[in-house]
Amino acid sequence: MTVKKAVIPAAGLGTRFLPVTKSMPKEMLPIIDVPVIHYVVKEALASGIDDIIIITGRSKRAIEDYFDDAPELEMHLAKNPKNKHLLAMVQEISSLCDIHYIRQKEPLGLGDAVLRAEKHICDEPFAVLLGDDIIKNDTPCTRQLIDTYNRYRCSVLAVEEVSDAMVSSYGIIKGKPLEDALYLLEDIVEKPTIEDAPSRMGAIGRYVFTPEIFDCLHHTNRGVGGEIQLTDAIRLLNARQNIYAYEFSGRRYDTGDRMGYLEAIIDMALEQDDLRGELLEYMRGIVGRLE
Ligand code: G1P
Repeated sequence: MTVKKAVIPAAGLGTRFLPVTKSMPKEMLPIIDVPVIHYVVKEALASGIDDIIIITGRSKRAIEDYFDDAPELEMHLAKNPKNKHLLAMVQEISSLCDIHYIRQKEPLGLGDAVLRAEKHICDEPFAVLLGDDIIKNDTPCTRQLIDTYNRYRCSVLAVEEVSDAMVSSYGIIKGKPLEDALYLLEDIVEKPTIEDAPSRMGAIGRYVFTPEIFDCLHHTNRGVGGEIQLTDAIRLLNARQNIYAYEFSGRRYDTGDRMGYLEAIIDMALEQDDLRGELLEYMRGIVGRLE
């Protein structure tokens, strides 16, 4: 059985982006005019997923509205033929795929958020895509993990080398190199200090899990920050079955980080014909003033 379902946890409070996240979900932060979660959903679809569960919480209604029909807006746009392309764009978003929403009632952490999807996933392998990262590559990152899953029929985590300063923000793995870009997971530690980190390879927020992860989540106690950590459940799963770590190909933007967010906006703007020229001119002007 291959991977057809994905869970996108989007219930976090977004404290790194306060004050704006006081009243809007961090997943809706725009990369120019497209919210971050749109890229994440598109990555899942481009990877062959056709059933998406978004785990939401209080004050996350904007996510549901974004992927829903917008009858008033559509009626307004339909009145003017000049808006044909806008109408098509708006309608395409609400017909992307089946999206289901499950609310996490209390902010008990990422592990608990994934556990909320148990009844919908049932006994299937599934992908998890955290809503902060945008990853650009011809073969989507989640597809790369699914391909690895299809070879080994084991859970797979996407990893990337992170800087010393960022080690304490990630789940850091200890892995036995197997072949190009592939490791057998030996251990994973949630947000270690630099001294305790088993390597510099961080889990970046893309996973494929066998359904046994749910039983592990049921047996996971509160960990770092008093939350049910997905990383702790991965450790339990690792004691039962092989898990692989895959150094994915692609450019990752951590849009949950202010600098990563800016980089994403600038790079995406440079890719758009109607913005590229003016933006380059503006940036040259800035550099000229600083020199
Ligand atoms: C979560 C995970 C962590 C992972 C990270 C990737 O942490 O708990 O293991 O490395 O996502 O972004 P968070 O960023 O939610 O604090």
